[in-house]
Amino acid sequence: MSSRVIAIDGPAGSGKSTVARALAERLGWAFLDTGAMYRAVTWAALDRSLDVADAPAVARLADTLVITTRPLVTVDGRDVTDEIRTDQVNVAVSVVAANPDVRASMVARQRQWAADEEVGTVVEGRDITTVVFPAATLKVFLTASAEERARRRGDESASSVARRDEADTTREASPLRQADDALVVDTTGREVPDVVEEIMGCLASRHLS
Ligand code: CDP
Repeated sequence: MSSRVIAIDGPAGSGKSTVARALAERLGWAFLDTGAMYRAVTWAALDRSLDVADAPAVARLADTLVITTRPLVTVDGRDVTDEIRTDQVNVAVSVVAANPDVRASMVARQRQWAADEEVGTVVEGRDITTVVFPAATLKVFLTASAEERARRRGDESASSVARRDEADTTREASPLRQADDALVVDTTGREVPDVVEEIMGCLASRHLS
């Protein structure tokens, strides 16, 4: 059982998943991609032809789903690793993620998973530093220029990325915002190992590693 958590937030394409995964590997900690959970709920709602704007119905469904994120993203045992990255999910996930009851269900699982880890967990998302783990060992906010973020998204169009960012920062339930005490790292033009080193350096300087 461990409550050691490095919490990482940031907008789409800021490098969260790549940096968090590399950091977890470097530390020998677990890695949790919380965005995959909201995508998994969205996929399940679309699969059942639910109206994603029907908040009570989607929340009821979310409560029943067995979701894993590692090594594969699965919903009730079905591998949806690729299916959660489609345009359909990109469009609908913002609505599902704005549903406070869905969030409550996901946040409870995230806290439990981190508590169950032996060593520690690197967790990335939109509300991890502000809502899910406000007392994290270290909080990091990643940014990057709009051009670079759009480039990194590859398959997803720049307009879709911009629309998700707008929805994530302006929603009422747990909007994306920078925690006051977060280490802010601009990843524009930087390699992943370089960003990981900066975070490791911060951990060391605070005597946390
Ligand atoms: O694809 P990208 O890495 O930008 O996003 P993601 O981490 O896969 O998350 C997909 C969507 O889930 C985001 O646009 C948010 O709407 C939502 N999300 C959230 O609300 N809270 C989190 N902790 C993680 C993701």
